[in-house]
Amino acid sequence: MKSIIITGGAGFIGSHVVRLFVNKYPDYRIINLDKLTYAGNLVNLKDIEDKPNYRFVRADICDFDTIYALMQEEHVTGIIHLAAESHVDRSIKDPFTFARTNVMGTLSLLQAAKLYWESLPEKYEGKRFYHISTDEVYGALELEHPEILFTEETKYNPHSPYSASKASSDHFVRAFHDTYGMPTIVTNCSNNYGPYQFPEKLIPLFINNIRHRKPLPVYGKGENIRDWLFVEDHARAIDIIYHKGVIAETYNIGGFNEWKNIDIIKTVIKTVDRLLGRPEGADMDLITFVTDRAGHDLRYAIDSRKLQRELGWEPSLQFEEGIERTVRWYLDNQEWLDNITSGDYEKYYEDMYKNR
Ligand code: NAD
Ligand code: TYD
Repeated sequence: MKSIIITGGAGFIGSHVVRLFVNKYPDYRIINLDKLTYAGNLVNLKDIEDKPNYRFVRADICDFDTIYALMQEEHVTGIIHLAAESHVDRSIKDPFTFARTNVMGTLSLLQAAKLYWESLPEKYEGKRFYHISTDEVYGALELEHPEILFTEETKYNPHSPYSASKASSDHFVRAFHDTYGMPTIVTNCSNNYGPYQFPEKLIPLFINNIRHRKPLPVYGKGENIRDWLFVEDHARAIDIIYHKGVIAETYNIGGFNEWKNIDIIKTVIKTVDRLLGRPEGADMDLITFVTDRAGHDLRYAIDSRKLQRELGWEPSLQFEEGIERTVRWYLDNQEWLDNITSGDYEKYYEDMYKNR
């Protein structure tokens, strides 16, 4: 029987991965290990929390003793590691928290897995440590060369404290393979969007603001490009890679779906307006250009042909359909949004936009 710890399972992408694994593999034991920071929310998993193959453990990935004991108790055979501090703007304000969780936390998980698996007679056989990372570790691409994308061979060149911490964690994971023979896999994915994303990230933040007719803070001129993937397509890729990916390999995950921020924002405004019965485009005047993010990467774009060619994954949704589904979900789940957009959230945004 497989017994898998999924870290960060109460967050945005993690909750989709937990749901997929719990429902698709009733004979696996799925342990969701999450600290429940501001970004973690067990409501995201209400529909599966009573399933017999699911267990939630509230713990910090930096807490080596707890993780080691849990691995022993549950005879853990695999780790899918998503827990992280994930928001670039927060990393600019507070880089230490990012180094602690993303670097030290990953190292503590690796070390617990190493000591536990090496203590078993079969050692690393049948085991897997799968680390989920981001395309942001590769740095930024130029607008003048749209033909250049990030491949698995692109040199790391992170710019933000967030991407620097993720890059560091990727290196540690690969080092544990190269040094100790741990069966690791790393994937680097482009920007995700979809249900359950914390509304500090572009798309849910803007849906929420349009709903309340609040200003939409567009950094710089809105010319930056991101490559967007529907979150369920990422979760499907994680499933395929966990089961069929080759040990020690890296796979880039992305949907060949580059958009300028300003164009996404206009699409989101029109979709929210239409679904709320407002004249389409009525809320364009909410667009407010604000001071650019420090060190704002110009363009991200992922070449995911290796994953498509070698493991047969491909994205399932057209972007227009994905945005429509996403906007509809947030509008149908306004209670979810309202529950997290109060208290500390309000304070965070007041501080964030002070002096802008
Ligand atoms: P998220 O911020 O929504 O969720 C992170 C989760 O990790 C939360 O549930 C939080 O409680 C938990 N967590 C944070 N610190 C922890 C700690 N010290 N111990 C245990 N749990 C902790 O993040 P997300 O957007 O779902 O991203 C998940 C992973 O995917 C991250 O590793 C991120 O770098 C990567 N990723 C994200 C994107 C994206 O567009 N969101 C794209 C590519 C890769
Ligand atoms: P974000 O969702 O924070 O993801 P990332 O920085 O990891 O790509 O931001 C996506 C893009 O949108 C990025 O170029 C920054 C921009 N952005 C804004 O213009 N305004 C905002 O309020 C936010 C949160 C992001």
